[in-house]
Amino acid sequence: MNPLFPLAESLSRPNRLPVLEHNARAWDRLAQAQGALAQPAVDEAFDDPRAWLGSGGTAGRGWLPERLTGLEVLCLAAGGGKHGPLYAAAGARVTVVDLSPAMLELDRQVARERGLNLNLIAGSMDALGMLPPGRFDLVIHPVSTCYLPEVRGVFREVARVTRPGGMYVSQHKSPASLQASAEPGGSGAYELRHPQSSQTPLPPAPPSRLRETGTQEFIHSLSDLLGGICGAGFIVEDVCEPQHARPGAAPGSFAHRATFLPPYLRILARRLPAQGSSPWRPDAPAPPEQGGLWGSGASLAPG
Ligand SMILES: C[S@@+](CC[C@H](N)C(=O)[O-])C[C@H]1O[C@@H](n2cnc3c(N)ncnc32)[C@H](O)[C@@H]1O
Repeated sequence: MNPLFPLAESLSRPNRLPVLEHNARAWDRLAQAQGALAQPAVDEAFDDPRAWLGSGGTAGRGWLPERLTGLEVLCLAAGGGKHGPLYAAAGARVTVVDLSPAMLELDRQVARERGLNLNLIAGSMDALGMLPPGRFDLVIHPVSTCYLPEVRGVFREVARVTRPGGMYVSQHKSPASLQASAEPGGSGAYELRHPQSSQTPLPPAPPSRLRETGTQEFIHSLSDLLGGICGAGFIVEDVCEPQHARPGAAPGSFAHRATFLPPYLRILARRLPAQGSSPWRPDAPAPPEQGGLWGSGASLAPG
């Protein structure tokens, strides 16, 4: 049994282990190839790390706290020498969890070079049993839920380790973007190619900014992403689609495609107070689905 993946987890979700093993190897290769997502933070970023990290949110509405000093921050699935070192340089107490030992090694190198303290843990984002409940003030989770077939378990784990009132900032590949062709077809339009299903991994794709070579990726619906975060015990406070579109961009370029299909969804969520003080009950069984006013028949709802 691989020590990265606890036995109980593997038995309860039999399809999960082969995906984890596959993606750990793929990300190790991407780290060794020094791909775009395995580039440690540049020197200038450490001149003023807090400014470099930015507001995290939408124009006019910052998400991240002004001061990170002393905060317990979990950089989840965020190896690669960028997130963990910059949050630590900005004064936070940082834990990084990542599946790929080679991606974590990049964090270790940067931490050593810059005299930073990082708690580096090899493991999967859906099995955070090594971390105590309520530990983190802030969880930063860059794009990575696409590397697992099931995401609701990830959000439950994040909820468990986030303190009541703590923040969870995550970014995901948008389902519609993953469903569509990378290049425009003969008519100049992007085509919807794949069903919205996380049952099977997407077929391999040529290298591009949209897909990471050699990894297995899965499409997650908005219900699973936004609903999963709410169901785990968070309130979603804000959502944005980071801007990558550029007017006049060449057809087929990343920026051109982004004018049709924003590639990412970024979500700000806040951990609800302890159960009992809130009307929401995390993970309560869903009531049977009903048409009601939201059905497709004679609805009173607008639109
Ligand atoms: C987009 S990269 C992280 C950020 C990147 N260094 C950057 O510059 O933006 C995604 C990370 O997710 C990690 N990953 C993939 N599957 C994971 C899993 N199940 N649990 C934890 N980390 C995972 C990969 O090893 C990789 O380091």
